[in-house]
Amino acid sequence: MTQSIKFWAIVPAAGVGKRMQADRPKQYLELAGTTVIEHTLLRLLQADIFSAIAVAVSKEDPYWPELPLSKHQTIITAPGGKERADSVLSGLKAIREQASDDDWVLVHDAARPCITTEDIHYLINTLVNDEVGGILALASADTLKQVQGNSITGTLDRSHIWRALTPQMFRYGMLKAALEQTQGNPAITDDASALELTGLQPKIVEGRPDNIKITRPEDLALAKFYIDQQCL
Ligand code: C5P
Repeated sequence: MTQSIKFWAIVPAAGVGKRMQADRPKQYLELAGTTVIEHTLLRLLQADIFSAIAVAVSKEDPYWPELPLSKHQTIITAPGGKERADSVLSGLKAIREQASDDDWVLVHDAARPCITTEDIHYLINTLVNDEVGGILALASADTLKQVQGNSITGTLDRSHIWRALTPQMFRYGMLKAALEQTQGNPAITDDASALELTGLQPKIVEGRPDNIKITRPEDLALAKFYIDQQCL
């Protein structure tokens, strides 16, 4: 008898978020009455599809144990790593006893609190029968320039350029193998790039533009605006 496929979420949350210039990592900054990471996790829980959500946090993180969600029965804490990819791998290892190689894993940045259940379900429904999996992405609205120093050396054909968002959805076994094979490679800035380097071609699924990543101080006000709009 074949076992039914499960869905797992991995949330890398061990970054320091230097560009925020704040007194704490950006995932713990206040956003619309709670913290950034609580918005993110509540939305993943609302999707009502994950067997568990593994959150990778820094070992020295004093904020995470204080959040009630850190004790939620569906949430598992994993140690964060040096780079985002190391944190994701650590999250995968935290569920290895329960997960099968063919199960789907959705990796979602803690710093993307505006993710909607609609986009999570759309990604899953689009890719659930795919061989490799793929990512939410956005077409580029701006014209894109190639630059050396401050001089423009060319204009890219933007019909071939997409911005990678999260969640990124891959099979447990394939993702773990790709991250292990590419560990330490600075070119791995998301999960898809690890699979690409092993010769695979993940798909893109068009996501919502309000799924922003909190990176700079002004992003918090924009995220609050989107969250208020989504709740109308
Ligand atoms: O820094 P950036 O915004 O690109 O990080 C994306 C996500 O990866 C954030 O949620 C951050 O907390 C996480 N991260 C991590 N471990 C690291 C670096 C980043 O979990 N070593």
